[in-house]
Amino acid sequence: MVVNICKWCFKTMRVLGTLRHRININSTLLRNRSRVLISRGFKNQSGPLQAGEYEFQDPKSDDEIVNIVYVDKDGKRTPVRGKVGDNAMYLAHRYGVEIEGACEASLACSTCHTYVHPDYFDRLPEPDEKEEDMLDVAVFLKVNSRLSCQIYLTKELEGMELTLPSATRNFYVDGHKPQPH
Ligand code: FES
Repeated sequence: MVVNICKWCFKTMRVLGTLRHRININSTLLRNRSRVLISRGFKNQSGPLQAGEYEFQDPKSDDEIVNIVYVDKDGKRTPVRGKVGDNAMYLAHRYGVEIEGACEASLACSTCHTYVHPDYFDRLPEPDEKEEDMLDVAVFLKVNSRLSCQIYLTKELEGMELTLPSATRNFYVDGHKPQPH
């Protein structure tokens, strides 16, 4: 059976469909972000920290410091004084390193793709299945590829180098680009 609908009804249905899709994606994203932060136990006086807020806090003691270096696609090195528990993608945002991170650590893009220096690669926990899936679709994949939004600094990672690929691919629904908080 063929149903005729006017072009305005068709446009409205498309807009509503897109909105519903975006709301679903954004709720998943928020749920994931809260889960990560709550599981990490990070809070400030007004409640749990927003994603990326922890990385904007300075280390409270020398014991917490983890120095790492970002190397961009032109070879420019940015040494950074991070701390235990920092997320490597949000830390990069703090220091203006161009890691996009379109899905804000929800494992729905591969724009936070980085190469981990071989000396440090085996010190990271194995990627989970979702990270593996996203890495499979990353461009310029190498054996030492990881998603920086899944890397949390530990003392063992002191001196680690993370190199950015020459390009990334954004699969995120609306091409969203996060801004540092
Ligand atoms: Fe999208 Fe890391 S920011 S997977």
